[in-house]
Amino acid sequence: MRFSELLNDAPEKEPERQYYYIKCAAELLKEKEAELGRKLTCHVTTFGCQMNARDSEKLLGVLKEIGYEEVESEDADFVIYNTCTVRENANNKVYGRLGILHGYKKKNKNMMIALCGCMMQEPTVVEHLKDSYKFVDLIFGTHNLYKFAELYTMALLNKKGMIIDIWKDTDQIVENLPISRKYPFKSGVNISFGCNNFCTYCIVPYVRGRERSRKPEDIVNEIKGLVADGVVEIMLLGQNVNSYGVGLEEKVSFADLLRMVNDIEGLKRIRFMTPHPKDLSDDLIEAMATLPKVCKHMHLPLQSGSSRILKKMNRRYTKESYLELVDKLRARIPDVAITTDIIVGFPGETEEDFLDTMDVVDKVHYDSAFTFIYSKRTGTPAAAMEDQVPEDVVKDRFDRLLALVQDHGHEKTKSFEGTVQEVLVEEVNEQDSSLVTGKMANNLTVHFPGDPSMIGQLVNVKLNCCKGFYFIGELV
Ligand code: SAH
Ligand code: SF4
Ligand code: F3S
Repeated sequence: MRFSELLNDAPEKEPERQYYYIKCAAELLKEKEAELGRKLTCHVTTFGCQMNARDSEKLLGVLKEIGYEEVESEDADFVIYNTCTVRENANNKVYGRLGILHGYKKKNKNMMIALCGCMMQEPTVVEHLKDSYKFVDLIFGTHNLYKFAELYTMALLNKKGMIIDIWKDTDQIVENLPISRKYPFKSGVNISFGCNNFCTYCIVPYVRGRERSRKPEDIVNEIKGLVADGVVEIMLLGQNVNSYGVGLEEKVSFADLLRMVNDIEGLKRIRFMTPHPKDLSDDLIEAMATLPKVCKHMHLPLQSGSSRILKKMNRRYTKESYLELVDKLRARIPDVAITTDIIVGFPGETEEDFLDTMDVVDKVHYDSAFTFIYSKRTGTPAAAMEDQVPEDVVKDRFDRLLALVQDHGHEKTKSFEGTVQEVLVEEVNEQDSSLVTGKMANNLTVHFPGDPSMIGQLVNVKLNCCKGFYFIGELV
């Protein structure tokens, strides 16, 4: 086949190699379109966090460049599941939905199914897929996502069985691949990949590999490009953004990076996710206090309020040091919004430990909190710990915690009623098309009368009426 010869000419260097494969794949797709007399469709489903979502935009970027048309439905010619494995229910969701995809594939002989993301970095998962999900065409992992165009081309030419390519780790970062953004006016921007913290409950370091930082100039250039393309708000993404700089030749801290990004003309808002309490420097607090574009919102994962459990979790802070940090943050930035993540039912958690968590929540009064039931992840140190907490005890604690954080959330939200806030208009309201929906700097939502021309603009909105966790407002 003439294509196998063509493929031998692929350049070694990245990203040129991937652009070469995109060109090859585009030709193959054109032939297919001519044969079928229609465009081919694709769909990418994201199961995980913001970083997972950003990866999906990279996959979609390649697919669109190849010539696919994106569709809402998973009944498409090419479907990718970008998976997450942070908790067991994330995995179960994928297996459940794969059954539905199989149904579509039986009806459409042109359909291809690919799986990628964090779940694929677990060898037991891939073994299970090989045995019981033989209709999957392509499986790849988190470290070789940049090779998607190449892997796709291989899968297209492959006539039998699935193609599996998973790497254990990588030290590479490949820049300048195509990206198709979900929103024209806001975007995630990776600043680092992987994690070195090894919290004992967490699987992320095993499936995302060691921490690597992107060069500051690559980050700044990407953001400048995004701004030129209409983006006004960016979210800097990393598992531990405030340890940014690890492995770089020049010494740049996360606060330094914020200052560089704040200088980018035309950019309006900067967010970041996720900082780790153990690395929250005074310099970072100062940067948030003084840089006008940085939203005064700190997502500061607590995980547990018990110093004993925090030690077992390998979080490297205590109840007291966490509370001191919050005090320091509020002293310097009185109107800062603080949100958090909390895990209930970590192995060995006693009622007393849990009451410490409730105590911290009571003292901090979070603007909002994500609460999770501890999920045992095979291969992590916590999975082998004794004293796993019984389900009914965990459920009872979870309900008490949720009630408390929701109370605080309502109270905090209500306190903004009647004020005027700057809002980024994000979309037309799904239920009522005479309304648009926007987000404030503290991440709260407001719906108010408006039209689609306002999408992507920053406007001032009066928050007339608090409806629990959101507002109904009016333009001022
Ligand atoms: N790097 C970030 C986010 C990690 S995953 C951080 O350190 O905060 C997002 C959240 O999922 C975590 O904050 C934690 O609360 C939760 N999580 C991680 N592993 C979990 C597990 N095994 N069971 C339940 N929740 C978990
Ligand atoms: Fe997981 Fe901890 Fe790393 Fe966050 S910091 S990704 S919770 S190991
Ligand atoms: Fe999930 Fe991977 Fe993100 S495990 S939370 S998608 S880094």
